Amino acid sequence: MAFPRVAVVPGAASGPAKNLNRMSLLLISASLNPDSNSRVMALEAQRVLAADGAPPAWLDLRDLPLPICDGDKTYGDPNVGRARELIAAADGILAASPVYNYNANAALKNLVELTGQAWENKVVGFLCAAGGISSYMSMMSLANSLMLDFRCVIVPRFVYANDSAFASGRIKDPKIADRVAQCARATLRLAAAVKSAGL
Ligand SMILES: Cc1cc2nc3c(=O)[nH]c(=O)nc-3n(C[C@H](O)[C@H](O)[C@H](O)COP(=O)(O)O)c2cc1C
Repeated sequence: MAFPRVAVVPGAASGPAKNLNRMSLLLISASLNPDSNSRVMALEAQRVLAADGAPPAWLDLRDLPLPICDGDKTYGDPNVGRARELIAAADGILAASPVYNYNANAALKNLVELTGQAWENKVVGFLCAAGGISSYMSMMSLANSLMLDFRCVIVPRFVYANDSAFASGRIKDPKIADRVAQCARATLRLAAAVKSAGL
């Protein structure tokens, strides 16, 4: 059986995401820890995208206290409204999360519970910080829920880094820094592709 051929641009996935500055990306930093490694990755992604001319919006859950979702009155909380606006306005979302108990942390899951339908049809990527090397599938439960509940398109490239990649509040492993840049640019490109496809 003959498969259709498509043009492949060498290195396209790793270079700067040019001409995508009309796309709106939201970076979410979900860790509530003051010494968060996932936040360090979110800041690196922010730096890369800004340098490419596509500065993302920013939602740090440390700065926007949210109630625990009760499926009722908490939907009317003003901070929940602000989070919902930021998510709804984004074409793509890059969520930086700690791995807690082989999952995203409760703060990120709570955000999804509180803002539900605002996630519909978004392209979503993940930057995960973990303690060990074996929890690399931990975002899949949240990713599955985003796909099945809200038709999110999950970026098929994510970053998983443990303590060894960080020192003094910086990424010291150049491979992880490179993966953060690739993931940020892939999220932007995929968001543009999904938007133009009209899905
Ligand atoms: C409650 C809790 C649960 C954790 N569960 C896991 C886990 O399942 N797998 C793992 O590799 N690390 C686990 N860790 C370690 C964190 O993923 C690690 O500290 C990571 O740096 C947290 O991200 P942050 O620095 O962005 O806050 C856990 C830490 C805490 C506090």
